[in-house]
Amino acid sequence: MYKTLSPLLFLIQPETAHKLTLKALRYAPTWVLPSGRNPPSLRLALWDRVFPNPVGLAAGFDKNAESISGLFHLGFGFIEAGTVTLKPQSGNPTPRIFRCPEHRAVINRMGFPNLGVANFKQNLEKFLRRKPRPNGVLGINIGMNKDQTNPAKDYTSLIRTLAPMADYLTINISSPNTPGLRNLQEKEPLTELLTAVMQERKNSCGTNPPPILVKLAPDLTNDQLSDIASVLLDLKIDGVILSNTTLARPDFLPPSFAGEKGGLSGTPLTDKSTEIIRKFYALTKGAIPIIGVGGISNGADAYAKIRAGASLVQIYSGLVFEGPNLVQKIKDDLESLLEKDGYANLEQAIGADHQKQDAKAQQDTGEQNVKSA
Ligand SMILES: Cc1cc2nc3c(=O)[nH]c(=O)nc-3n(C[C@H](O)[C@H](O)[C@H](O)COP(=O)(O)O)c2cc1C
Repeated sequence: MYKTLSPLLFLIQPETAHKLTLKALRYAPTWVLPSGRNPPSLRLALWDRVFPNPVGLAAGFDKNAESISGLFHLGFGFIEAGTVTLKPQSGNPTPRIFRCPEHRAVINRMGFPNLGVANFKQNLEKFLRRKPRPNGVLGINIGMNKDQTNPAKDYTSLIRTLAPMADYLTINISSPNTPGLRNLQEKEPLTELLTAVMQERKNSCGTNPPPILVKLAPDLTNDQLSDIASVLLDLKIDGVILSNTTLARPDFLPPSFAGEKGGLSGTPLTDKSTEIIRKFYALTKGAIPIIGVGGISNGADAYAKIRAGASLVQIYSGLVFEGPNLVQKIKDDLESLLEKDGYANLEQAIGADHQKQDAKAQQDTGEQNVKSA
């Protein structure tokens, strides 16, 4: 059905097409949605949660948590709703989403338009009342309002309201379209913010606190990434999401598209986000689970991120160009790729590239020792 409709969707403004898609997912009877199967080898237990498969929907697609049920029926193992802010806000002037089908790329400068936490909470309550609840994990991505000068105030207040309803919570400090937000990735403000976040979780969540994840930009330097890794390890942050959109503009993009302000996603981000996953996994020796996101448009892209160190993956732009069947396609491809490499399950493949490198380094040292003996 998407193949038939997509030429029409590409004729209208990207944001209008997106709104129509969300409405369709909200009201469509579940039997028309593809749903599909979850290969047993893709099941993963993490943070005391069971992910029926590792393919998730990235934040920004369902900002107001209005279509979660329909989205789960597309076969995702997890959905990340949001980014939601405390107060409603309208975001940047439109147009603010731009597509480049030739390079399967998107630039957006949305600026967190959303209806605010009160509306988000109502929608979530409606979803959680559904019986049976669709199989899968529900993450909530939170951000600060554009006019907030004390970020910790917004994040802690959002945690108080939403933590009891979330399977995990993401602290978004990496969208490029909220002035000053990315500065929260610097060591001091990061430590201050995340200390407040962890304290709030302790105060408001009792015995079953949701894991706290931090979503980072792909444009960090090695020094910045190393500082962040040490802060996250010190504060016992549960996970990271790598990555958000990039401010970079590769030369091959047409100037009319590359000239748009905002964050770039899709295929031009694929390798950049995989490399930052690889670096973060190496820095933390795999101690902090990673959700890998950025330019995944097939199973091989997802598998590369898993081998580089991601435990789970998410997609957004790939869905725009490939349609909802992409979810099942990635799951099927991952199942075959694991089998081809001789892994019984997903867990065995997480960070596999690093084990190969370590083995090679050990072998090289062994050979050197033999030579010098
Ligand atoms: C139109 C659009 C809106 C987005 N909004 C958000 C958002 O609200 N919060 C967030 O954390 N990421 C947001 N993102 C970033 C995605 O979650 C994802 O990290 C990024 O697009 C890279 O993945 P992709 O290449 O598969 O799209 C948005 C991306 C797009 C394209």
